[in-house]
Amino acid sequence: GYYTEKYRSQYHFTPEEKWMNDPNGLVYKDSLYHLFYQYYPDSTVWGPMHWGHAVSKDMMVWKHKPIALFPDENGFIFSGSAVVDHNNTSGFGTKDNPAMVAIFTYHDMEGEQAGKNDFQTQGIAYSLDNGESWTKYEKNPVIGNTGIKDFRDPKVFWNDKAEVWTMLLVAGDHLQIWNSPNLKEWEKVSEFGKETGAHGGVWECPDLFPLKIEGTDEVKWVLLISINPGAPNGGSGTQYFIGDFDGTTFTTDQVDHKWIDLGRDNYAGVTYNDAPNNERVFIGWMSNWDYARETPTEKWRSAMTVPRALTLRKVGNELSLFNYPLENFEKHVALAYPESRIKILPTRKRIIPLKYSNQSKTKFTLSVPNAQMYFRNKNGDSLSIDIDRDKKLVTLDRRKSGNVDFSDKFSPGVQQMKIPNLPDGPIEIVLLLDHSSLELFINGGQYVMTNQIFPNEFFRAITIINNSEEELVIEDFTEHKVERVW
Ligand code: FRU
Repeated sequence: GYYTEKYRSQYHFTPEEKWMNDPNGLVYKDSLYHLFYQYYPDSTVWGPMHWGHAVSKDMMVWKHKPIALFPDENGFIFSGSAVVDHNNTSGFGTKDNPAMVAIFTYHDMEGEQAGKNDFQTQGIAYSLDNGESWTKYEKNPVIGNTGIKDFRDPKVFWNDKAEVWTMLLVAGDHLQIWNSPNLKEWEKVSEFGKETGAHGGVWECPDLFPLKIEGTDEVKWVLLISINPGAPNGGSGTQYFIGDFDGTTFTTDQVDHKWIDLGRDNYAGVTYNDAPNNERVFIGWMSNWDYARETPTEKWRSAMTVPRALTLRKVGNELSLFNYPLENFEKHVALAYPESRIKILPTRKRIIPLKYSNQSKTKFTLSVPNAQMYFRNKNGDSLSIDIDRDKKLVTLDRRKSGNVDFSDKFSPGVQQMKIPNLPDGPIEIVLLLDHSSLELFINGGQYVMTNQIFPNEFFRAITIINNSEEELVIEDFTEHKVERVW
């Protein structure tokens, strides 16, 4: 298919129609990346959750598949993960044809409505045909509930250290870690987070994985925890912790948690199991629970972020998690408009026309500490990004970016992102624009802001204002078209 409705993303994953939220079951098997997702096929607002399904060879071009998991007598199918049971520990498959096993939360609506607090349990299902058809385990749920109201979003991975399956499960204000030999019988082994991290809302969608610190052989573990509400710019957002995992327990030496993205629209993101070449690939849901149900699209609701590679890098003395579009992404970036050299005197500005602005990647190196950029269209909509390295602050303003009235919570004010630790000297700026989103990557993904936007027409120009005392010289300004992937 190929979609042309107003605001339809052309290079970000969207469901063909109806409501979508979190990415689920990210797993690679037999040359295909699977993307399952929270899906309600009967409406464009949230409802009884199913798992939608799509597959891709490169995480850019997706093929929609039939719904994978339907609600049953145990409840709706909430978020979770998928693994390939290579050693057939579950007995669901064989070693020659290992099962793909989905691990998810059952949400029993009747229990919730009856005022109970044990309505979320964990279930499993398996597929022997690469996710085409699924069988639920007859002894579901595999983890019951002893009275924890928010008890969900299992992320399972093979734990080399303890030679078991490990499940991360969130329980309201903390993380629980459970281990299992066979994906069916689970034992709780540790907890994390009651006294650590942001607690402005419920903990959701955990993930935990090892990463090598770039340029060294040292491995650290990164824990992702989404929280709703309580994100720095309002609503839902994803924090992370860097630490160690001994096979049973996660510990962090960090004093403060950090955020993977300081824009408003990157939530519930998790990473792939079994991705080739040890690549750690992240996909987030490009929306925010503050207004997700009200965004102005008609046929479908919301998109995923572009797939991003996660890396750990030391900048100065500080270790940070970087997230940046995958190399694969570049294959869909068309030949650049020739690079241009742009010079802007202090306090002056320069208007640079854009050719492919609805579907583009713009990239340049910023040589001065302070500059403001804004996108404009003929309709007078504008979207502004102010980088102030003296104040160590980025301010993003989408208050006049087009259709913003559908919710009071969409743009009550500007968004701020602290940039305390940029290296000295010029920094790379990458801006990905699609029909209803802008992703901003500063210094290769050290600082990132992802936002939905609903401009009344395409942005036609970017204006750069030099707010520094020295002349701004950009040697490498390029605007590329990003091809549609449908
Ligand atoms: C996160 C979340 C999860 C839950 C799912 C329900 O966005 O609230 O915690 O499993 O959405 O759709």
